[in-house]
Amino acid sequence: MLRKLLFVVVFIVGSFTTSIAQHSVSDHSLMQNLSSEPGIIEVEITASPDRLSLLPGVETNVYAYNGQIPGPLLEISEGDSVIIHFQNNLDEETTIHWHGMHLPFVSDGSPFHPIQPGESYTYRFRVHPGTAGTYWYHPHPHHRTAWQVGMGLYGGIIVRDPDNPLPDTLEDKLLILSDNRFDEEGNLDFAEEGTRQFKVDEMNGREGDVLFVNDEIMPDLSIRSGEVQRWRIVNASGARIYRLGLEGHTFTHIGSDGGLFEYPEKTDEIILANGERAEVLVHGTAEPGSKFKLQALPYNRYMPQWRPADWDQTRDLLTLTYTDESPVNPIEIPETLRSIPKLDPEEVTATRVMRMSNGKINSKVMDLNRIDETAELGATEIWEIRNLVGMDHPFHLHGFQFQVFERNGEPVSQIKWEDTVNVPGFENASFIVRYDDYPGKWMFHCHILDHEDQGMMGVLEVK
Ligand code: C2O
Ligand code: CU
Ligand code: CU
Repeated sequence: MLRKLLFVVVFIVGSFTTSIAQHSVSDHSLMQNLSSEPGIIEVEITASPDRLSLLPGVETNVYAYNGQIPGPLLEISEGDSVIIHFQNNLDEETTIHWHGMHLPFVSDGSPFHPIQPGESYTYRFRVHPGTAGTYWYHPHPHHRTAWQVGMGLYGGIIVRDPDNPLPDTLEDKLLILSDNRFDEEGNLDFAEEGTRQFKVDEMNGREGDVLFVNDEIMPDLSIRSGEVQRWRIVNASGARIYRLGLEGHTFTHIGSDGGLFEYPEKTDEIILANGERAEVLVHGTAEPGSKFKLQALPYNRYMPQWRPADWDQTRDLLTLTYTDESPVNPIEIPETLRSIPKLDPEEVTATRVMRMSNGKINSKVMDLNRIDETAELGATEIWEIRNLVGMDHPFHLHGFQFQVFERNGEPVSQIKWEDTVNVPGFENASFIVRYDDYPGKWMFHCHILDHEDQGMMGVLEVK
């Protein structure tokens, strides 16, 4: 059962009040704003060991943010100042990383700023104009990210745009995808060192056979015939890459990591790698009373010798159920969603080549005491990401959204804001990026969390 939370966000800007429609986000409780000042969002979040029911009728030892998996939704708007008081009640160090957000280095929650057990830390950042979109947060401690995310630490972020180009009446659903593995008693199953499974998890990243949408297994999502819904999809899985398809439907793909596209794209499938987000419109084109499944279609991201035997199975994620109500007239979707300022190739001052092999970038294993790349604040650069091996590695850069302009030498269909780019085996991708506003030491890494933990990560110092 998908419980729906309906809420009204009211922005008070100066002396006038704008009411930003009703957004119903599936089954997410919100981080409560402790501030009554306009434009300030002040929240509290705690990471603690907990016992929660992930599988029906069983309690499992987990880690949770504010007692929930996924953690509560952080809902903010462009222009807001965000203050997050974080308390680490785990018995190990952790951080919270605000994946995809453009913010000061000290608030990035990278392995450079670990928070010790029992300690607290306040993250502060301002939400830049033009960044409305879907983001997420997760821990980022050195060598322990896969474990802590696997234990349940991840949550969603929605950045709203006061000038949303899409109709305010559009139903808005946040779908956080994750997977996990359990033993017979319902405990989370992490492979023992020395076992074959341990090696498989090291190579592929740890996948689980139980797929969750938010906190549910195969939930129902209802739609009325004719209705259009906006789905914001987050891949919070440590290693599983989703090739998404919705039976009987075509997606209208409208957004990526850094927000809306310029133009909607019709597509039957979306590949969503680890850490990535996709925004799609689902058009309720079917008959009242009908049902369709959102599925993870087979996706071969593996090296042949480590590929799981059941990799070619389709897995179900949720059921889209049409209500019996009579059809409504579909709302109009604009043909242009926004204009994205293109980063200028003429301004590029350096091209950096990243060669990804298993566990390494440019033949090096992560070292927090080493700076791998140095760049000037404000510089525009090209990064060419080459995957030298036969499995996918999704490449992620902290702090700055980039624009992929080429894949395997071919220009891409349109320029989008992204912070993670999946590079399939033996392929390459190039992006252009500008290091605006924030000096610091920014991580770049493979977002298969086990690979990141093994050291498939480096440091870009911007100064
Ligand atoms: Cu989502 Cu460095 O991570
Ligand atoms: Cu990140
Ligand atoms: Cu990888």
